[in-house]
Amino acid sequence: MTLVSQAEFRIFPDDCDAYGHLNQATLLRLFERARWDIMARGPGMDVFTRHGVWPAARKTTIEYRAQAFPGDVLRIDLRLSRLGTTSMTLLQTAQRVGDGRVIAEAEFVMVTIDGEGRPAPVPDDVPRALGARASRSVSETRQILAGDLLTSVDVRGEGPAVLFIHGFPFDRTLWRMLATTLAGWRRIAPDLRGFGQTPLEGGDGTLGTYVEDLVALLDAMKIDRAVICGLSMGGYIAFEMLRRYPQRIRALVLCNTRATADDAETGAAREKQIARVRRDGTAFLTETMLPRLLAPVTAKIMPDVVEQVKQMMTGASPEGIVLALKAMRARPDSTPDLARIAVPTLVIGGREDALIPAAEVRAMADAIPGAHCAIMPDAGHLTPLEQPINTSRLVSEFLEALK
Ligand code: MLT
Repeated sequence: MTLVSQAEFRIFPDDCDAYGHLNQATLLRLFERARWDIMARGPGMDVFTRHGVWPAARKTTIEYRAQAFPGDVLRIDLRLSRLGTTSMTLLQTAQRVGDGRVIAEAEFVMVTIDGEGRPAPVPDDVPRALGARASRSVSETRQILAGDLLTSVDVRGEGPAVLFIHGFPFDRTLWRMLATTLAGWRRIAPDLRGFGQTPLEGGDGTLGTYVEDLVALLDAMKIDRAVICGLSMGGYIAFEMLRRYPQRIRALVLCNTRATADDAETGAAREKQIARVRRDGTAFLTETMLPRLLAPVTAKIMPDVVEQVKQMMTGASPEGIVLALKAMRARPDSTPDLARIAVPTLVIGGREDALIPAAEVRAMADAIPGAHCAIMPDAGHLTPLEQPINTSRLVSEFLEALK
């Protein structure tokens, strides 16, 4: 537990009862005022609304220990005692400044909710302002032997399966926001071969390698069919899976991805990247890709996302990156397959995606029978991280309609 902040308030006669004691309801109000005061001086009073969420009180426990009177100054502190994905427990103590007497102690359980009242992730700025580490483990990470590959996988919840496939050069934590909110579904987010904590151990430089790994993972988890949710390269892999194992796919969510193969220019750029990774390692990728990945507003107001993206990019092994670049370079055009997609499909794009323009995403969706397409404002190439609430809502509604 870390003491991070305090606020002070003077007691006035109108805060008190007929006997001149501080009224208990006023004290409750002062605790709340202190929380907002600390937020206003820290991450800003709009720390919740700018993430599209709001803190709702779930449970309050107060112990009144001593009386307080007009003229007293109370110092109220705020500590974070427990951080969940969508909830936090806060401890507050009100102490009289003059004699140090504790007037009351309280515990508040707060849940962050979206506009529809559904639990939503606590914005990272809040625990950080209260002294906690910004990144939280959002689920149980398991090592699952999938075929011959010991795969690191975040698994969360019970119900029909959703398999998340990350893009390049990221890892399973790309889905941390989305995977926390889809209650009623078993959310499975692996690190692909050579990324995050999954070792490389071979691979033939085609997307087929990843597809076989993922199908082996489904087999190991005894899952026949899953909703496949892929972002960018994860989408390319989903198309390859659709060609090889259509019977394993219950529905598709395609985020910030395209159906076309690399054009000559992109192919040549990938060859250069491969040569450079072999020569210099991977650091240059962060420098060259990062400025193009996120919408300007994300880069400005979501430092936790910027930090996470950097961490994901620096976590991948050079060999894993080379394998993925070769595989993307070699992938076929999936455009002719679009008209044959026979499962419900949701397509999501970012209006400010500099890598895969929204118009291209929309055209791809138009070619898929019955697909629903949403282009998110204020989102670049990593929509699920940049617009976590809206993406969760969209995907959750899409999944509900499948039940
Ligand atoms: C990705 O996010 O997976 C990459 O931008 C895909 C690509 O390089 O084509």
